[in-house]
Amino acid sequence: MNAAKNDSLLSHPLAAIGTAFVFYGGLFFGFLLLLDLATPAENPYTALVTFVVAPMVVVLGVVLVLLSMWLQVRAAHRRGEKFTFHVAIDTSSPHYRRNLAAFGGISVVLLVIIAYTGVKAHDAVDSVEFCGETCHAVMGPQYAAYHNSAHARVRCVDCHIGPGFEHWVKAKMAGMRQLYAVAFNTFQRPIPTPVHALRPAQETCENCHWPRQFYGEKFVTHTYYKTDEENSPWTVDLLVKIGGGNPRTGKLEGIHWHMLEANKIEYIAVDEDLQDIPWVRATRDNGEVVTYTQAPSTGGDIPDPNSSDVQVRRFDCMDCHNRPSHIFHPPAKSVNLAMSQGLISTDLPYIRKTGVELLMADYAENDEAITRIPQALKEYYEKDYPDVARDRAAQIDEAATTLVKLYRENFFPEMKTDYRTRVNNLSHFTNAGCFRCHNDRLESSDGAKLQKDCTTCHAIVAQGASAELAELERDLQGVQFKHPVEIGDAWRQMDCILCHTHESGY
Ligand code: HEC
Ligand code: HEC
Ligand code: HEC
Ligand code: HEC
Ligand code: HEC
Ligand code: HEC
Repeated sequence: MNAAKNDSLLSHPLAAIGTAFVFYGGLFFGFLLLLDLATPAENPYTALVTFVVAPMVVVLGVVLVLLSMWLQVRAAHRRGEKFTFHVAIDTSSPHYRRNLAAFGGISVVLLVIIAYTGVKAHDAVDSVEFCGETCHAVMGPQYAAYHNSAHARVRCVDCHIGPGFEHWVKAKMAGMRQLYAVAFNTFQRPIPTPVHALRPAQETCENCHWPRQFYGEKFVTHTYYKTDEENSPWTVDLLVKIGGGNPRTGKLEGIHWHMLEANKIEYIAVDEDLQDIPWVRATRDNGEVVTYTQAPSTGGDIPDPNSSDVQVRRFDCMDCHNRPSHIFHPPAKSVNLAMSQGLISTDLPYIRKTGVELLMADYAENDEAITRIPQALKEYYEKDYPDVARDRAAQIDEAATTLVKLYRENFFPEMKTDYRTRVNNLSHFTNAGCFRCHNDRLESSDGAKLQKDCTTCHAIVAQGASAELAELERDLQGVQFKHPVEIGDAWRQMDCILCHTHESGY
């Protein structure tokens, strides 16, 4: 046996480099883990760096060490020698000293890289761009809608992930699962909602908005255009009683009453989208408890809140504001808005009706809609209104451009996401919303109802057949609601969504 060739494992430069990778890959992992644990508002995709990139550095190191061993064995065989490994510290060997120097040099370089990339990578995956763009196809709809919302400057992670160890672990696991789903294209279209992993509102929304901060009324104005040839306008101005703590009397009142301190509302929904609510329980701040259930005459079963397979949910911000940042407008609403802003000319005959129909038509993908909508609009006027097509070509072009923009902002056929798959609970006109409970059908044992009296939540301060405020019927005390077309008492008896359906553009 040739004792002189009894070499140390670390005598090959590749082995030294590999060992450095293993060692610092491990250090990198530990460092990121600490960083992860130390940053409270967290993002599931930091897992990408911690649990994928760092271990990859270690694996690379192991591969290098194995390679160096294989090279050394092969070289020894070539020389006809037998080769045994041992890890010896042999400072007298020049080989050893050279590799120790290499190890030291690489260590310094790796340490600098680790510290720098670790922090950078963490910042990168925490960013809005990472959430929205890295998984572009998947989150495209939510990302696009986000940029058109009041929360365009609030980071995704501020609503989606909050502090706390339990949520940290949950978010990491969800992140890895999502990574897998995207890599193997197994994610659902549309993405499932409601988001069960979302934190309670107290820990997200209330970091920035708190119930005591709201008060008073909010003025909102809606201008509609009917589906007749003239696109006749109709305007409703509302003072919405947002409520909160009244700064003058200190009383708690109005819509945000639901959220105020000792008041607690719980409910049971029998469907996945939380739309069908047969049971509600209110605990008032004086300790009084009232349970409202669907009147037996309506036929539905009343769920038992004590049963183990019934989930009683605590009502919070997101039960009304379920689309604070990802609103997909119904076509009737977005066309009405564009018309009131002058982006679609009200002089084009039937533009309200035609525009909505073009937005709602079936398109296989976004690109198809973008080419089809302008063509179809032009063809419509050429065929039915040749004079208009000739004299108002510029207005038709502008209307087409606006419709394409509305389509891009609100329809995502690749992800099967639009107003039809995404309810908005904030009103009662396009979805059941407030009328899920305030519908005159839920009753307490002593006969009190959750009423849908039109003055409970807002006052109609102006309305009429015009887009001009001066031409409307006005009264700050509120006027009696007038339905824009004659339907008798139906608007009082029936929920609005029974006529204002998805198929009619709402
Ligand atoms: C102001 C808070 C807020 C911000 C900021 C926010 N989201 Fe959301 N997001 C929500 C809420 C609330 C829901 C849940 C809706 C539900 O459960 O019905 C949601 C749902 C989602 C869904 C599930 C699909 C859906 O439409 O319900 C995705 C995906 C999503 N958000 C991605 C993002 C991305 C990406 C960003 C950043 C570009 C972001 N969110 C920013 C509040 C927010
Ligand atoms: C990081 C801070 C932050 C968080 C978290 C946050 N918001 Fe906001 N929110 C804002 C800001 C900033 C605005 C814009 C205020 C303005 O335009 O005056 C806003 C505006 C709003 C508005 C008014 C929207 C409008 O169209 O005028 C509503 C409603 C709202 N937020 C609800 C929520 C809900 C519900 C949540 C929790 C899911 C939430 N916010 C979480 C900061 C936040
Ligand atoms: C019962 C349903 C409901 C609940 C629960 C609710 N809100 Fe609201 N909130 C509304 C309505 C309705 C408006 C008025 C919206 C409008 O007309 O634009 C509103 C308005 C707001 C506004 C805008 C105020 C302004 O002056 O523009 C903010 C911010 C807000 N809510 C935050 C919250 C937060 C945070 C929570 C949870 C603590 C919450 N809301 C709970 C229904 C609700
Ligand atoms: C899950 C059922 C539920 C939904 C959905 C709901 N509410 Fe309520 N709301 C209640 C209950 C329960 C009460 C309290 C009734 C009581 O005092 O017994 C209440 C009370 C109110 C009050 C009276 C507060 C006061 O000053 O006494 C207003 C205003 C109100 N809701 C507005 C709304 C609006 C606006 C929406 C839709 C954005 C809405 N609610 C959605 C259950 C609901
Ligand atoms: C439980 C509370 C509540 C009750 C009861 C209620 N509304 Fe509303 N209504 C709302 C809220 C909240 C909105 C959304 C305000 C906004 O546009 O920001 C709304 C919006 C509207 C709008 C504008 C719709 C749109 O989106 O264009 C009309 C019109 C309206 N309500 C009429 C009525 C009539 C008529 C009644 C009586 C049958 C009624 N409301 C009862 C809460 C209520
Ligand atoms: C019996 C069916 C029916 C019910 C119930 C009903 N509507 Fe309507 N509504 C209509 C019809 C039909 C039109 C005319 C639509 C058109 O011009 O094409 C209309 C038009 C409107 C318009 C003008 C909007 C537009 O874009 O054309 C508003 C605003 C409106 N309704 C509000 C309400 C509200 C708020 C409720 C619930 C309180 C309600 N409606 C309930 C049938 C109904």
